[in-house]
Amino acid sequence: MTVNVLFVCLGNICRSPTADGIFRERVASAGLQQQIGVDSAGTGDWHVGRAPDSRTIAAAARRGYDLSPLRARQVGEADFHEFDYVLAMDKSNLSHLRRLAPTNYAGHLGLLLDFVPHVGLREVPDPYYGGAQGFEQVLDLVELAADELLNHIRQKHF
Ligand code: 4NP
Repeated sequence: MTVNVLFVCLGNICRSPTADGIFRERVASAGLQQQIGVDSAGTGDWHVGRAPDSRTIAAAARRGYDLSPLRARQVGEADFHEFDYVLAMDKSNLSHLRRLAPTNYAGHLGLLLDFVPHVGLREVPDPYYGGAQGFEQVLDLVELAADELLNHIRQKHF
């Protein structure tokens, strides 16, 4: 069986591509590429078709993640038929997704950081209009959450 995971933010050029790249690396390290599918999307359509933000690519590359092949796309209703986990970066993304989701969606729709309640933040702050530190914080938060998400999926599904 395959478990498909979709990360969602606003633009799909900063936070969700970071989560996509980090989680993909964790899945590969665990040898679970055939069992776990990974993708990301944005609620907005401004950046569709573009690579991640250059600051996002550079910050991730310094930690060994290659985000350069990723291209932004907009989340749609069809994603709820493909993905078992739809994980939002912030509450605004989650509200958007709740409006889009079929009423009978049986997968997990929630906030990524709810997998790491001990970090004390429920939202991954949007780094787009801030400085370099914001991109490092996204990486820090997502690295922690990716580990716990993988633990959760392994326990629940494999
Ligand atoms: P993301 O960051 O949602 O983490 O990809 C943003 C990227 C672009 C914009 C906002 C947030 N924007 O307004 O264009």
